Amino acid sequence: MRLIQISDTHHSVEHKDFAANCEVIAAAVAARKPDLIINTGDISMNGCICAPDIELARSWHQALGVPVLSVPGNHDVGDRPEIRADQVIDNARINAFNAFAGADRWTHDLPGWRFIGLNAMLFKTGHEQEEAQFEWLRKAVETDAKLAIFMHKPLFIDSIDEGARGYWTVYPEPRRRLLDIIASRDVRLVASGHLHIARELTVGNTTHIWGPASSFVSGDSQEDLGGERRIGFVEYNFDETGFSHAFVFPEGATPLLIDEVGSRIYPKPASKPA
Ligand SMILES: [Fe+2]
Ligand SMILES: [Fe+2]
Repeated sequence: MRLIQISDTHHSVEHKDFAANCEVIAAAVAARKPDLIINTGDISMNGCICAPDIELARSWHQALGVPVLSVPGNHDVGDRPEIRADQVIDNARINAFNAFAGADRWTHDLPGWRFIGLNAMLFKTGHEQEEAQFEWLRKAVETDAKLAIFMHKPLFIDSIDEGARGYWTVYPEPRRRLLDIIASRDVRLVASGHLHIARELTVGNTTHIWGPASSFVSGDSQEDLGGERRIGFVEYNFDETGFSHAFVFPEGATPLLIDEVGSRIYPKPASKPA
């Protein structure tokens, strides 16, 4: 079973700065004839305030001609108040994502495996859906299958027990809760987006993949988080016993910087543009 993880496509009806990169990605993905595509969030640029951006992402997904599952990112459904005071995650934003892009959390089973998609934007928000998702997750992991988890924000940067990394990762408290829920399970893969960086690290039996973006990379506006700042995707091959993976950086994709255009296409009061 061939899976391709794309991420951070940042589709926008108004701002076409990164559309050419997405088309390079689309062609390269189609050439590999995957069985399934998972978009690990920020499918839109301004989905929080512009639902047509999410509709555009859906149309782009449909044109790929392959089933696509998505999880929401901060650009799609919002974030915590201290990150983005004018775009706090709320029911209207979650409902819009669910309506246009599919459920914000899901399971997908194949022989020997259960894939789990999570709405990482709910963590540490106090939103009623945060607890509901933890309850849902407890049931979702009740399987003997190997688990692969997909979410927008990564669990960590350097160490799974590190302190808060602000904008870039899930906060330590919900990370601990999530890790406790999956502790007795055979979790082989945790795949995320959000950083716009290609990176990997294996801890125990679990491979953590930070998936590269389809749209842009960050320059000086992002501190050094390791990995490669390149446009691309991740190709996985799963069988009943395990999986292999490889980063793919298609020729023709350009590492466009958000730094120079972020204030125009993603204006905001107090957060970082990635
Ligand atoms: Fe992003
Ligand atoms: Fe993001």
